[in-house]
Amino acid sequence: MEAAVQQALQAISQAANLDQLKEARRLHTGELSAIVAANRAIKTLPGADRAQAGKNMGAAKQRVFAALDQRQAELEAAQLAAQLEQEQVDVTLPTARLTPGARHPLELMQERIADVFTAIGWTIAEGPELEAEWFNFDALNFGPDHPARQMQDTFYVDPPGCGLVLRTHTSPVQARALLTYGVPCYVAVPGKTFRTDELDATHTPVFHQVEGLAVDRGLTMAHLRGTLDHLAQAMFGPEAITRLRPSFFPFTEPSAEMDLRCFICQGEDPACRTCGGSGWIEWGGCGMVDPHVLIACGVDPTEYQGFAFGMGIERTLMFRSGVSDMHDMVEGDARFSLTYGVEV
Ligand code: DAH
Repeated sequence: MEAAVQQALQAISQAANLDQLKEARRLHTGELSAIVAANRAIKTLPGADRAQAGKNMGAAKQRVFAALDQRQAELEAAQLAAQLEQEQVDVTLPTARLTPGARHPLELMQERIADVFTAIGWTIAEGPELEAEWFNFDALNFGPDHPARQMQDTFYVDPPGCGLVLRTHTSPVQARALLTYGVPCYVAVPGKTFRTDELDATHTPVFHQVEGLAVDRGLTMAHLRGTLDHLAQAMFGPEAITRLRPSFFPFTEPSAEMDLRCFICQGEDPACRTCGGSGWIEWGGCGMVDPHVLIACGVDPTEYQGFAFGMGIERTLMFRSGVSDMHDMVEGDARFSLTYGVEV
């Protein structure tokens, strides 16, 4: 018995890791170990010797199990210490953390505007950026010789005469919406538009508009004005001041531009560079839908009237956030976008 215990204690103290200790435990206390064999043999002893043998056996087992427990604790502690050592983090090392991105403020602005219209029950629609000339011009009552069709404004698409253009405004979606949804129709369409302008502080060849179209019985210019004032206040605050100024568009009659009180001089500086001293800045075009447009879309103009508008989204952002240079909006410098916060 003593020899078996000594062997076990030696194996236990020599176990260099938890796996070896497990093996020692199996060899020296398992089914096939000398200790278990001796334990079994007790019952073969003469009755008088059994009690003493059982006592010896208990003491021997206790020494072995105590040694096992102690070695187990030592090896676990050593393993944990080694692991901590290995996983040590040097918090003083310089970081290579990726900076968070931010969505572009023009995208956020389009979503904000869409929210204003869904809140009053309008549908949000989209149309293709590569548009049929018919939708971009003909359906909107642009005559074949209208100057906006000429090369200086429109990106035509190869091959010549294929009938496709990069849409010059979001207005073609007016016709698409009427043909898709029929009347009554209340849609808002934020989206990208294209014109052959050079990039400068106030122009960019790729820009954004939000189109609005309402066609129903009994709509008047008062509804147009109320809707645009609501949008202006949602975008610029309750103190926003607007005005309608007569204008012309082939697809509206009468037509108007909506101007905003200059956000720089409030109309008080005749030398203001932002508004040219007029006190007003153009926000977008609008008007009552021309009957020709309704007819082109299969709507009876004696029964239905409509109003429409197309506001510039870059301009909206300029007024709202005081962005004075278009370059900031198109150059893609994340520092510009990040100032608007990280929104999802
Ligand atoms: N599409 C016009 C433009 O880009 C803006 C516009 C004017 C849109 C009058 C309209 C409208 O819906 O009724 O200059």
